[in-house]
Amino acid sequence: MTVRAPAGAFLLVHLLEGVDFVRVLGIETSCDDTGVAVYDDERGLLAHKLASQVETHQPYGGVVPELAARDHIRLLMPLVGAVLDEAGGRYADAVAYTAGPGLAGALLVGVALGRSLAFGWEVPAAGIHHMEGHLLAPMLEEDKPDFPFLALLVSGGHSQLVDVHGVGRYQLLGTTRDDAVGEAFDKTAKLLGLGYPGGPAIAAAAQHGTPERYRFPRPMTDRPGLDFSFSGLKTYARNTVAGIELDERTIADVAWAFQDAAIDTLVIKCTRALEKTRRQRLVIAGGVGANEELRKRLATLATSRGFGLYYPRPAFCTDNGAMIAYAGWVRLAGGQRDGPGFSVRPRWPLTELLPID
Ligand code: KG4
Ligand code: ZN
Repeated sequence: MTVRAPAGAFLLVHLLEGVDFVRVLGIETSCDDTGVAVYDDERGLLAHKLASQVETHQPYGGVVPELAARDHIRLLMPLVGAVLDEAGGRYADAVAYTAGPGLAGALLVGVALGRSLAFGWEVPAAGIHHMEGHLLAPMLEEDKPDFPFLALLVSGGHSQLVDVHGVGRYQLLGTTRDDAVGEAFDKTAKLLGLGYPGGPAIAAAAQHGTPERYRFPRPMTDRPGLDFSFSGLKTYARNTVAGIELDERTIADVAWAFQDAAIDTLVIKCTRALEKTRRQRLVIAGGVGANEELRKRLATLATSRGFGLYYPRPAFCTDNGAMIAYAGWVRLAGGQRDGPGFSVRPRWPLTELLPID
């Protein structure tokens, strides 16, 4: 039995039936993508939509925080309406929103709306860690990993190797000492005049590159440990093109060499981390996880070493509302409740999250 309104009554019906949450609305506004989705307890993902801000930021060659926040304000409400329509209802039973890490102004838009909807609908709400959203995104696919697993979290702001024991049980094995790998893709793309966002642009240009015309270093692979450093690759690209004409062929060849080095470095560190932890499953998540070449290289490694490789579809590697709706459902069903006040955490270590059983 379902009762659509008022939402408080709907929730009560489910509470009486012993079902806490049926449909969770997820809101993602941590950077330059406005993402909204509804995740249903039994039926899975009911609807998800993304409004990209690429055109807003493209002229600047990167994300302008103030413009991102303003775009979220403009885009979010209509997107929530459209997603609820598609999911077949005017309410959700709970609301989850990205509370950090990310751009403060951008986060505030999603948190303020999410919190207000929860207040108005009289339903529970939970602030979600953006990187936990990425980490759990493979659970939205048919081929999902069991816990424990090793995760390679690679995005515009993070490059991390995480030993995942369960939800909220995260052990950081390695992280970047400077630029994240996605940031290095973006900065190198800008340098080559390939525009923003840089990751897909480098990947596309590299397809036409001459293998091995240039060879970039594999940072920090000549010493033990699982930390990364990617800022040197961008500098190497700058030095490589200094004083030479940037024709289409050179751009493609440098893009190939950069991508080859970045991916090789990630693969070397994943191999080390798998040896260290003896995990049998590897998850790739975050925007750079959409990179075809990275997936291919790790798939080859998985076949030769006999471990399971898991990743979300490319649209759920980059920022999206579905991963927040899903992580929200997991946390709300596990008992997390955020109070009526709200705050954002632009910096928020993944290891500070509370475990959920
Ligand atoms: O996860 P995400 O959408 O946002 C953050 O949480 O940062 O990741 C965005 C990053 C950007 O740096 C973008 O250039 C990179 O992911 N990216 C890619 C690809 N698609 C997106 N990098 C390499 N290859 C791709 N195909
Ligand atoms: Zn992200």
